[in-house]
Amino acid sequence: MKRANMRNLVVSAFAAGASAWTYAPNITYSAAISIDASQKYQTMIGGGCSGAFGIACQQFGSVGLSPANQEMVTQVLFDENIGGLTIVRNDIGSTPGHVRGDVASILPVCPPTPEGPFNYVWDRNDTCQLQLTQTALKYNPNVYVYADAWSAPGCMKTVGTEDEGGLICGVRGSSNCSGDWRQAYADYLVQYVKFYEQEGIEVSLLGAYNEPDFNPVTYACMESDGYQAKDFLEILYPTAKAAFPNISVACCDATGARQERNILYELQQAGGADLFDVATWHNYQSNPERPFNSNGKPNLMTEWADGSGPWNANWDVSGQLAEGFQWAMYMHNAFVNSDTSGYTHWWCAQNTTGDNALIRLDYDAYFVSARLWAFAAYFRFARPGAVRVGAASSAENVYVSAYVNANGTVAVPVINEAHFPYQLTVHLGGGIDASTATAYLTDNQHNVTMVGQTPIGGGGVFEATIEPRAVKTFFLS
Ligand SMILES: *[C@@H]1O[C@H](CO)[C@@H](O)[C@H](O)[C@H]1NC(C)=O
Ligand SMILES: *[C@@H]1O[C@H](CO)[C@@H](O)[C@H](O)[C@H]1NC(C)=O
Ligand SMILES: *[C@@H]1O[C@H](CO)[C@@H](O)[C@H](O)[C@H]1NC(C)=O
Ligand SMILES: *[C@@H]1O[C@H](CO)[C@@H](O)[C@H](O)[C@H]1NC(C)=O
Ligand SMILES: *[C@@H]1O[C@H](CO)[C@@H](O)[C@H](O)[C@H]1NC(C)=O
Ligand SMILES: *[C@@H]1O[C@H](CO)[C@@H](O)[C@H](O)[C@H]1NC(C)=O
Ligand SMILES: *[C@@H]1O[C@H](CO)[C@@H](O)[C@H](O)[C@H]1NC(C)=O
Repeated sequence: MKRANMRNLVVSAFAAGASAWTYAPNITYSAAISIDASQKYQTMIGGGCSGAFGIACQQFGSVGLSPANQEMVTQVLFDENIGGLTIVRNDIGSTPGHVRGDVASILPVCPPTPEGPFNYVWDRNDTCQLQLTQTALKYNPNVYVYADAWSAPGCMKTVGTEDEGGLICGVRGSSNCSGDWRQAYADYLVQYVKFYEQEGIEVSLLGAYNEPDFNPVTYACMESDGYQAKDFLEILYPTAKAAFPNISVACCDATGARQERNILYELQQAGGADLFDVATWHNYQSNPERPFNSNGKPNLMTEWADGSGPWNANWDVSGQLAEGFQWAMYMHNAFVNSDTSGYTHWWCAQNTTGDNALIRLDYDAYFVSARLWAFAAYFRFARPGAVRVGAASSAENVYVSAYVNANGTVAVPVINEAHFPYQLTVHLGGGIDASTATAYLTDNQHNVTMVGQTPIGGGGVFEATIEPRAVKTFFLS
């Protein structure tokens, strides 16, 4: 073949989203995988996304998406057999009144003192987050709703406004306050949960903070270290549990895993180790590299997207950090190295030219990124309540984790980072009772596609091939 033709072939392969480079070496590379179901780790919550800052309105028509496609986009995200997401993270708005790009507060008029009056207003809309939650629940009745505030209303803070950081009035270090507003803020957060309850929606997790280690000034934000978190959580925790005995309380959505661990150390030093139920963190400023110091409580990654690049729908073309294959690696590392129970992408669906959303909207058209297929490769099979169990690979560039569902079925997502296939021998131990392994392939040509079934041998062993630069999820039943 002439050089020029070869170049054209490569170019068109890229254009079609085909695998960039793969090899068929003339020897077979093998990896041994062993699963030990008797070794139990964290319980999974799932994957998710958010419609905060009015972005949910884009998913529900504000940029031209038709009602039929509003349903379709939401189904693609949350249907157990498509995107398989289970978490919606809603922003408990702090903006007085309706301002485009902000989330309206349920307390439009902030009273002058903590004595009130508190005239809460429920518009049955919540800047389109109610519709997002309701529609997600249609396609997944068990959606885990995380209601999380970026800031307290301005009157409850040292800076007097939702922007510009500041502290909750009443925590150590706060000044310039008209009183101790901690109980008022706790009541306000619980009131938001009550409004959702009125709509028949259970909020599973309640959070008072977003990135309290970081002060962006220009949008709703509020600061706190772990000591100050103790001072507020000692009010919020009993208030939330008295109103909703089943609700979980979050701490504290720091910008990175390391930043979150630091807040948790301080919280514990201050005597607040039991004032939360889920350690929540974002993956922006540092990676999950080790177990969390969460006093035995679960941890959840509650927000991340690259945010710096152009829209990228690819699985594996350039190795750019928004590609689907990379997201599979991020999730693997969090679940295995940090016992993380779930992973929440930043926006769900957005009219954007950037890489912040799982689905890009353009008038009535929508485009699904391969990041969603990375989530689906895990969470269509490891459903909420699944327990991660022991899993090991003999090859450094073949990654494995395993999850036993409540009904005993097992999900085994395997990642092959190599540009050549591996022959896998999978050994099942620790009491797995399954007779068939069904393989689902995710790579440049497949979106979690069922590609074969293998009987599991008497000794709990089966053989399979994993394609280059792929995730192959084996579902054992
Ligand atoms: C296998 O590949 C090596 C390196 O490319 C080459 O030298 C060798 O001839 C090949 N062997 C066969 C049997 O094709
Ligand atoms: C959608 O996004 C495009 C490109 O960023 C922008 O020009 C347009 O104004 C957006 N449309 C709406 C209705 O926000
Ligand atoms: C919710 O409010 C937004 C404005 O924030 C509006 O565009 C939208 O139509 C409302 N949705 C419903 C279902 O009323
Ligand atoms: C003190 O509070 C007032 C009113 O809430 C606000 O305008 C002012 O900026 C605050 N001062 C500081 C230093 O934050
Ligand atoms: C709490 O959860 C349990 C178990 O799911 C349920 O039976 C009970 O009704 C819930 N209680 C409340 C107050 O929602
Ligand atoms: C896989 O999903 C992508 C969007 O992520 C889409 O463009 C492509 O057509 C899908 N391929 C298959 C085989 O379904
Ligand atoms: C077991 O649970 C998994 C995950 O929810 C589900 O896909 C599967 O159909 C269930 N199997 C049986 C036999 O109930």
